[in-house]
Amino acid sequence: MKRRDFIGRTIIGASGLTLGTSGLFPASSMGANDKIVLAIIGSGSRGTSTIINTCKVNSNVGIKTVCDVNDLKAARAIGLIEKELGYRPPHVRNMVAVFDDKDIDAVWISTPEHWHALATIWACQAGKDVYVEKTPSLSIWEGRKMVEAAEKYKRIVQIGFQNRSAQYGSTARDYIKSRRLGKIVHVKSYNMLGGGRWVAQPDAEIPEGLDWDAWLGPAPYRPYNPGVHSMTDRGGWGNYWAFSGGTLADDASHVMDLARMVLGDPGHPKSVYGWGGNHAWGSERETPEFQSITYEFDDFAMTCESGNATNYMIKTPGEIRFSDSQFPDWKQNATRTEIYGTEGMMYLGRHGGGWQVLGNNGEVLAQEYGIFPDKRHQQNFIDCIRSRKQPNGHVEQGHLSATLVHLGNIAHRVGNKQLLFDGKNERLIDNDDANQFIKTSYRGKYRIPEKV
Ligand SMILES: NC(=O)c1ccc[n+]([C@@H]2O[C@H](COP(=O)([O-])OP(=O)(O)OC[C@H]3O[C@@H](n4cnc5c(N)ncnc54)[C@H](O)[C@@H]3O)[C@@H](O)[C@H]2O)c1
Repeated sequence: MKRRDFIGRTIIGASGLTLGTSGLFPASSMGANDKIVLAIIGSGSRGTSTIINTCKVNSNVGIKTVCDVNDLKAARAIGLIEKELGYRPPHVRNMVAVFDDKDIDAVWISTPEHWHALATIWACQAGKDVYVEKTPSLSIWEGRKMVEAAEKYKRIVQIGFQNRSAQYGSTARDYIKSRRLGKIVHVKSYNMLGGGRWVAQPDAEIPEGLDWDAWLGPAPYRPYNPGVHSMTDRGGWGNYWAFSGGTLADDASHVMDLARMVLGDPGHPKSVYGWGGNHAWGSERETPEFQSITYEFDDFAMTCESGNATNYMIKTPGEIRFSDSQFPDWKQNATRTEIYGTEGMMYLGRHGGGWQVLGNNGEVLAQEYGIFPDKRHQQNFIDCIRSRKQPNGHVEQGHLSATLVHLGNIAHRVGNKQLLFDGKNERLIDNDDANQFIKTSYRGKYRIPEKV
């Protein structure tokens, strides 16, 4: 039996029931639009909602397996899939079962950040295409290994930097390329979110229904802590270096990635100065409450202001994210980029919002409204699985954008310093302290090999 025929006929429910999938894979959709069989790895709120949305609009794309180390989250995801798509995929805890399953074409990785790289590399080695959430890596070294794996095994790897699928991003890039802003001299990206004091919790017994060792995976072993992983909600893993690059990785990575894209994807910066700390609320988090970073590129500088210290800033409201007739209030917009050329400056939104170019005395020289492109990005992945064209969120560009996150964090972690970067070798120059952070340490069987 061919693997694509298998999924076309049945999906085995968690209850053991075999469910017909004729509605999921109607005969009329066969042929050029061949079926695509997915598995989700990490069925928290983000991955579950995006994979369901994708399957809803692609009648010949289905979910064969839900993989999560947390039984509650898996059960919730399976319930939602049943409600929205009409079938119940089985649950597995161990992602190796997904990679071993020849029926599965592609995986949807939406675990916390410390698992992104290893899961992606294993998936590529198993011949699966990959949609992996941002920020793709926890260190510069493992990001490069992801690029190598995608290339070696000829996989489609879409990084979940969805703004790369924004139409208004492409027109902004064309506008800048045409030099109508003049020569670019400075870029300022903002990710100024709200927040409050974060308090650490005591360690606790491992809850029933959780494989804690597998949740930790490549990270150093630590006792279970409900402030790190929540059985029901997202939890606080983003506050710990072992699992995340903090708010810079979680959110500012999007604005910096979009800024890089519209600038024509410059290579690595030559230096970074990074400041950060918990000076706003005095939180007990490892990743800083607020950071201010400056990157030096060949002929312009870029800054990033990022954190959870400014409750009065406004994330682009929902009605503007999907509007073709409104711009955000730029001056108080929490996730904007400002691009300064010699002839004008561009405001660029990151949650939709489009772009506007201002000249002398606030005169609007050009503009374009913009729609938040989350669904387009996931659709682009499905289209690329079929066409074998490279996706909008190409792994190399995802790695370069993630490197900005890692450099900003390293500069902060070595004492809020300026560091010189050798982009060719992806190492900090003459700085052993800083180079300790280039590669994450790995644990036991959860290792990324030097040769992927
Ligand atoms: N692109 C975006 O705009 C966007 C938005 C939100 C979240 N995200 C990203 O999506 C990812 C998931 O976010 P979330 O809010 O759903 O987090 P979450 O913590 O709620 O979900 C992660 C899930 O992964 C599971 N998991 C952990 N280790 C696993 C393993 N080894 N095997 C299988 N499952 C495992 C957890 O049990 C959990 O259910 C994060 O990387 C986050 O940064 C991206």
